[in-house]
Amino acid sequence: MLIAVAAETDPSEPRVAATPETVKKFIALGAQIAVEQGAGVRSGIPDEDFKTAGATVTKGAVKDADIVLKVRRPAPDEIKTYKKGALVAAIMDPYGNEPAIKAFADAGLVAFAMELMPRITRAQSMDVLSSQANLAGYRAVIDAAAEFGRAFPMMMTAAGTIPAAKIFVMGVGVAGLQAIATARRLGGIVTATDVRPAVKEQVQSLGAKFIAVEDEEFKQAETAAGYAKEMSKDYQAKQAALVADHIKKQDIVITTALIPGRPAPKLVSKDMVASMRPGSVIIDLAVERGGNVEGAKRGEVAEVGGVKIVGYDNMAGRLAASASALYSKNLLTFLETLIDKKEKKIAINWDDEIVKGTALTRDGAVIHPIFKPKPAA
Ligand code: NAI
Repeated sequence: MLIAVAAETDPSEPRVAATPETVKKFIALGAQIAVEQGAGVRSGIPDEDFKTAGATVTKGAVKDADIVLKVRRPAPDEIKTYKKGALVAAIMDPYGNEPAIKAFADAGLVAFAMELMPRITRAQSMDVLSSQANLAGYRAVIDAAAEFGRAFPMMMTAAGTIPAAKIFVMGVGVAGLQAIATARRLGGIVTATDVRPAVKEQVQSLGAKFIAVEDEEFKQAETAAGYAKEMSKDYQAKQAALVADHIKKQDIVITTALIPGRPAPKLVSKDMVASMRPGSVIIDLAVERGGNVEGAKRGEVAEVGGVKIVGYDNMAGRLAASASALYSKNLLTFLETLIDKKEKKIAINWDDEIVKGTALTRDGAVIHPIFKPKPAA
């Protein structure tokens, strides 16, 4: 059983899908590991460290691999070099990318989308959305602090008092919770909003104030899977009025709101941005999914009327070493469920909930219920 750790081909992706620690664990499971030359360098892992852990480091590591580990979905010209029947695990970004998913089926590969991992207790350690969003939430606050021309904590000095920064977090999932905790640790005054009622107590327990339109629709806004629903036009209007009034008093706004499989909801309008004081900073963590903020530009810091709107791509990748360590661990615990430890070979239980949730392709076909071709009516 040969496992390859591919190098990322997207120049904006510094993460890597294995660490020396996970390499050792895979070897203990009976695998051989081949790492693509230089794959870990941008996450602070030299080839030497992979070799010391027991991997071979080569060019073209994926060629004969039974399992290929990657961070991002491999492009069609990459998968051409994979062995037929190989298992590929990566963050596949499948929504709206059906042709790219079909390419895995056509190449006879078994593709797993790590971000579709069901949010059940057993799979918590395999949950890449959580492991990466947590770091993104932390980094959003650090980036905001770096762009902000004032201090976060209140400081009483002989030369005068500096007021504490006011931070508003919109969308309190995994990223939002970590953003609140980080902003509080830096001494900011934090408020937060979300459409899911369950969040209120979590926000308060972190020492922040919860602000939301708490009507009947709000009480029903959480799906069985724990995610937010897309809200009605009426709710959106009420929410916008509340946010407009609050946002003009804020120094920093961090938006993280997402709805699975849908474009990110627009929460901050041009007028709201214009109402903020010059020098204020907005960090839009949803920018890769269309953005929560009007005027946010993907991969850029846009300046609108003196307000900086930060739209960095791949926020977790800005902490590549930490992000790679957690992502690699997610992959390891997932792969452990696909390997027969006694026989030291791949043994997939296709009835397992976590396999059904993440498997995109098998035996030349797209099999995932969300992405498989719909029968003609
Ligand atoms: P997400 O990344 O899908 O969305 C981020 C946040 O934006 C969510 O809190 C969502 O409610 C909020 N949002 C969506 N539309 C909004 C709007 N119009 N206005 C304001 N906020 C809006 O969410 P994430 O971080 O993936 O977490 C979703 C839930 O899953 C959370 O309850 C989290 O605690 C839970 N979870 C459960 C796990 C498990 O049981 N294994 C693991 C990780 C998270």
